Amino acid sequence: MRIVLGVTGGIAAYKSALLLRLMTEAGHRVDVVPTPAALNFVGRATWEALSGRPVRTETFEAVESVNHVRLGREADLVVVAPATADSLARAAAGLAPDLLGNVLLTATCPVLMVPAMHTEMWLHPATVANVATLRSRGVTVLDPDSGRLTGADTGPGRFPEPERIWAQAQQLVAASGSRASRPRAQSEAAPLTGRTVVVTAGGTREALDPVRYLGNRSSGKQGVAVAEAALAAGATVTFIGGAMSVEPPAGADVVRVESTQELHEAVLRHAPGADALVMAAAVADFRPAEYAEAKIKKAQDGTNPVIRLERTPDILADTVAARAAGEPMPGVIVGFGAETGDATTSVLKFGAAKLARKGCEMLVVNQVGRDKVFGQDTTEVTMLFADGREPVTAAGDKTDVGVAIVTELAGLLDRPARLDRMDR
Ligand code: CTP
Repeated sequence: MRIVLGVTGGIAAYKSALLLRLMTEAGHRVDVVPTPAALNFVGRATWEALSGRPVRTETFEAVESVNHVRLGREADLVVVAPATADSLARAAAGLAPDLLGNVLLTATCPVLMVPAMHTEMWLHPATVANVATLRSRGVTVLDPDSGRLTGADTGPGRFPEPERIWAQAQQLVAASGSRASRPRAQSEAAPLTGRTVVVTAGGTREALDPVRYLGNRSSGKQGVAVAEAALAAGATVTFIGGAMSVEPPAGADVVRVESTQELHEAVLRHAPGADALVMAAAVADFRPAEYAEAKIKKAQDGTNPVIRLERTPDILADTVAARAAGEPMPGVIVGFGAETGDATTSVLKFGAAKLARKGCEMLVVNQVGRDKVFGQDTTEVTMLFADGREPVTAAGDKTDVGVAIVTELAGLLDRPARLDRMDR
């Protein structure tokens, strides 16, 4: 399931690192959302290293992915541990000065708050009233343990052992009958449950001057279909979309880009830590070598401007190279290859050469021509695999082909092709 672990500014924050461990070891995806004050106790690097995910505290960080509503809405469980007296007060008042406050206002899943504070604070009428308010709204607020506190004092206010918190959290989810508590049958039908997939789609636009660009005919349909199939298979999807004629998939974290440069940056930002990257975007291979700051005008003498092109970075190949250099890039990387074939070489031969050149696990090859593929609703593709397994062909609606691609992707994730290669 998708868990948000809110951490507020108390010394027990360090014990939440153990709680996080219990959650991730059970196979859950955990986004840690510390308050700024919590970072005084345990730093961002610790949370990122233990969760394997980016960590944000402020509402206005990574605004493009609309984190302030997305995290709460998508969560199956929110646990705030430790919850300070101040954070209980803010939650009771519905304040959202930081990302965690926003998560609490948007979450519709079970919410567990785990107070930890000095006894006087816990027994203060303000805290008592805040806890009562939160409970009356359906938030589960654990009673703290009694015992030794930070200083020499003892009494109620102690942070419970992480194992107890985790057990409570699981009971809460099971009792709520939420989607996360019905995973068994669902996970069989949802082979990408718990997986994170980054999908790029659409075409890039390379600016010539402030009003003109070089672009391509990509509609984005195939990438959207792959993203939708991955969502339906239970994955968390980050969709990086260039110029498209269709809407991005509902339910994905959507990042919009225009140029190859922006797409490159977005992939380098979102791919680390993901399980799979699907490069369905039609990336420009060339871009204008110079950008004219002012609109290029018609010359009086009748001469025509000459556009000099330069190569763009190969995003797919760069991601594969970064992985080889030890960066946490996805274990399964899928490329697309549009081929026409020629008099001597077949489409699939070109595809096999491209697969080897790119170094990815799978290449989806389609035959292109003037009336084929771009903008159409139907297509025919052949999926080629680096580990030598037999090619798989899929044809029909781009939606069906998206499902076929995701089926193969799930198969590769079960047994990463790189391991297959090492076995042989
Ligand atoms: N790709 C990329 N970065 C580029 C160009 C392409 O990541 N600068 C990705 C595409 O998203 C796609 C695959 O690489 O997954 C396509 O490879 P490419 O070599 O560009 O194939 P074609 O466009 O078919 O070009 P060519 O046959 O000329 O090599």
